[in-house]
Amino acid sequence: MCGIIGYIGTRDATPLLIEGLRRLEYRGYDSAGIAYLSEGRLKIQRAVGKLSSLEAVLSRDLSPSHLGIGHTRWATHGKPTEENAHPHRAGAIALIHNGIIENYRVLRDTLVASGRDFSSETDTEVIAHLIDRRYQTGVSFKQAVSETLTQIEGSFALCIICEDEPQQMIAVRRGSPLTIGMGSKEFFVASDVQAFVAQTSEAIFLDDGEMAHFSDNGVCFYDAEGRSQSKQATTLSHDQSFTGKGTFRHFMQKEIHEQSRAIMDTLFGRVSQQAEAVCPDDLIQAAPSLGKVDLARSRRILLVGCGTSWHSALIGKFFFEAIAGIPTEVDIASEFRYRNPPLSKGDLLIATSQSGETADTLAALREAQIKGVQTLAICNVVGSTLSREAGRVLYTRAGPEIAVASTKAFTTQLVAFFLLACFFGQTRKTLPVKLRKQLVRELLAIPHKIDILMAQEQAVATIAKQYFRCRDFLFLGRNLHYPVALEGALKLKEVSYIHAEGYPAGEMKHGPIALIDEHMPVVVIVPRDHVREKVISNIMEVKARDGKIIAVTHGDDAEAAALADAVISTPEVSPYLSPILTVIPLQMLAYHVALLRGSDIDQPRNLAKSVTVE
Ligand code: AGP
Repeated sequence: MCGIIGYIGTRDATPLLIEGLRRLEYRGYDSAGIAYLSEGRLKIQRAVGKLSSLEAVLSRDLSPSHLGIGHTRWATHGKPTEENAHPHRAGAIALIHNGIIENYRVLRDTLVASGRDFSSETDTEVIAHLIDRRYQTGVSFKQAVSETLTQIEGSFALCIICEDEPQQMIAVRRGSPLTIGMGSKEFFVASDVQAFVAQTSEAIFLDDGEMAHFSDNGVCFYDAEGRSQSKQATTLSHDQSFTGKGTFRHFMQKEIHEQSRAIMDTLFGRVSQQAEAVCPDDLIQAAPSLGKVDLARSRRILLVGCGTSWHSALIGKFFFEAIAGIPTEVDIASEFRYRNPPLSKGDLLIATSQSGETADTLAALREAQIKGVQTLAICNVVGSTLSREAGRVLYTRAGPEIAVASTKAFTTQLVAFFLLACFFGQTRKTLPVKLRKQLVRELLAIPHKIDILMAQEQAVATIAKQYFRCRDFLFLGRNLHYPVALEGALKLKEVSYIHAEGYPAGEMKHGPIALIDEHMPVVVIVPRDHVREKVISNIMEVKARDGKIIAVTHGDDAEAAALADAVISTPEVSPYLSPILTVIPLQMLAYHVALLRGSDIDQPRNLAKSVTVE
């Protein structure tokens, strides 16, 4: 939510800022802006809408600079207008912000009463005024920033420059993520390493409350109390680097197609082909200080996540209960925190997140840690706040996911949950050896089955042509496929703006059946397992009311095909693993419907990839 970038060094700053913003645009695209110091003057340019609007403005007037900041906005306080776009300026100070200042009203009223004029409706502008007010009393730039931080409440990542200090830049974080790129005689500040990974592979992750002060002497780090810190740089691996769309029209389509490769990476080194078992050594990375904790002995598992990550957790519950025999509860992260759940020492909380920066998921993790519960992250982004704070992490290795709508993050999370459940089942001896070997074999065959499934894309596109003008969609599934139905509906909503609902098929008769008529397409996932007959009955109920059935089947399913208006078949696989395959046609359907409706697929309206506010 909002992307921020800063640069100080020997090169021309603005092209680097624009390139960084391009890589951060997935975090918000309501407006974009930059501020830079050129010939001793602070210059600010901003534009409503995507980065391309800013670029159009910039091309008219750009002077060289070695210091600058840039921002791409997801609006929280104030509409997406040029006045509300960052950077914000007060006096000599210009800054960019990701987060929310909770006490901004009180601060703003006080500042207005003292004669300060505001030019935006944002919470951010108060910070610029507060720093400037301190700075005008004669204290140093750094001191003015430090003193201001004691006044503001909420979450923030800030990057601040000062017109009088051309050799200085300050970055600080509380709650929102911030990383520092360490180049040769140059430094980057960014919400995410993607912004600078093409320039330098050496990164330092700021911890909560920390500040980085850049000056003639290089960079100095300080903790929340202002004590000097020494920080270790991490070398970023190649798979964290941003890649283009290749031959695909959109990142979403590319990422759907990457799922086979992504799952191979998730499995790499974690499954022994010879022993047909899960290898624990490569599975979970733990901070050395945590020692060897036998997570498999947990008495209860609590899964938390948001959106797509919550859907994968709903399927993870099935894995942990059926394979490892561990009672498992699933919460939407934003609900978990406020319902004050009773937790005990034998619990294990697994926080799941693609980005590792989702504010609600982080809050749930922290809540569990305060209550003394063991925690583990299932996460894609290496070095993200969640992966560092959880102490233990199972990386999904999906590679950068750029499209706002999650696709490969979901399927790799399912594989991660499955590996973990099998490992726990192995350790607890709840997973019979014969079944374990069969499941591991099937798991290893999944990437190939996804490759086969990709050949269905044209058939899915044809179905999309028939239904893309519909106003509503219903998605039905049972058991493991109920979360798949939720995920199919979420994908369609996000990228096509069609109203869609996911429902447990058995629940349809308790309400949603009232919605069904000849205009309503109903996507039904038809399994091969013990609930198959029930699902067939649900299809009959829809047909009796003239609803249109789009069936997602396992292998060739003549019975379902005879009942359906359209069929997409997925390769046959163990019922446990089938959600990994059945979700893919739903991702494709959402993509092709959105394509026909002409929506902005990779950057749908109102959304942001990384939701760093509560
Ligand atoms: C997925 O398509 C969504 N854009 C969204 O629901 C997302 O899954 C959610 O915001 C959680 O993100 P995370 O996995 O990065 O925590």
